[in-house]
Amino acid sequence: MEEAKDQFAIRCDGLTRKFGGFTAVDKLSLRVRKGELFGFLGPNGAGKTTTINMLTTLLRPTEGTAKVAGYDLMDQGEFVRSRIGVVPQSFALFEELTPVENLWYLGELYEMDRQTVAKRTDDLLKIVTLYDKKDVQSGTFSGGMKQRLSVAAGLLHSPQILFMDEPTTGLDPQSRIALRELTQTLNQTGITVIYTTHDMDEADKLCERIAIMDHGKLKALGTSAELKEIAGHSHKIELQIERCDDRLLEELKRMTGAISATYEDKMVELRVKKLKHDMVHELSDYLHRRNIEVDNFRITEPSLEEVFIKVTKKELRD
Ligand SMILES: Nc1ncnc2c1ncn2[C@@H]1O[C@H](COP(=O)(O)OP(=O)(O)OP(=O)(O)O)[C@@H](O)[C@H]1O
Ligand SMILES: [Mg+2]
Repeated sequence: MEEAKDQFAIRCDGLTRKFGGFTAVDKLSLRVRKGELFGFLGPNGAGKTTTINMLTTLLRPTEGTAKVAGYDLMDQGEFVRSRIGVVPQSFALFEELTPVENLWYLGELYEMDRQTVAKRTDDLLKIVTLYDKKDVQSGTFSGGMKQRLSVAAGLLHSPQILFMDEPTTGLDPQSRIALRELTQTLNQTGITVIYTTHDMDEADKLCERIAIMDHGKLKALGTSAELKEIAGHSHKIELQIERCDDRLLEELKRMTGAISATYEDKMVELRVKKLKHDMVHELSDYLHRRNIEVDNFRITEPSLEEVFIKVTKKELRD
């Protein structure tokens, strides 16, 4: 069959999965461009894995349609499977086998020729920095090493799209960083990456665009900057001041670009639309003029957490 031509790696329309009367994924519609590093961000139970399982043909959608790598999910599952790789949420390789043996076994499953498997195994184990452990039983590996081996396994048949389901959950900070860097390196070689996480900071740092999911629904979609616009305010300026009167708060609110000013626990919180140099000057001039002493001063960038709370209208649960 000819290679399907589609500018999108993934397009899904109204994708829905029900388990009995419970809707785990509810009318999901979105496009992922080829070559994107695309994130699904959501708390436990949001429907991330169910979405991944549908897009990788492991689970049949109850309703809706999707094309993955240009092929129809329902009618061309085999073509989809040959063009995607999966790093599942939990380790799915044989603990008693070495990396080389695991990849060899997978190569047999994919019916790849043995020379290609041997070459890919060498190359991939070098990329995921496990080459010196290639003949060690993978059951003895740390969480980070197991995840890197899973990445190598997911890439064995040279897929166009790699699905990674919470790959850094449970890893120590160093292993998280290593895995994120690996993901970016892979993405730079042209592989489309679909990455799920419940870590806002991770989604923010890593993903080009992020889909925020909650209770099976797509709540917001965009680049990190676009999502932060949704939160409606950009920066937070905090000033620790011993005493604050209404006049001070009123005057701060009237400053250029200010959205709101509040005072609590000896802390003035000033919200501004977009932080500019002039604002900081204006603020410090004003405080100086009025002889107001500031004990501490902090500027915080907007965070995805604020966006999340805004779009889901609740506190975080994880
Ligand atoms: N096979 C199943 N049968 C019944 N309910 C299921 C099944 N699989 C998932 N669910 C339910 O669907 C919802 C979404 O689950 P899913 O695993 O997709 O969430 P997730 O976003 O991947 O969460 P996590 O961050 O915990 O991995 C959950 O409420 C879950 O209990
Ligand atoms: Mg999951």
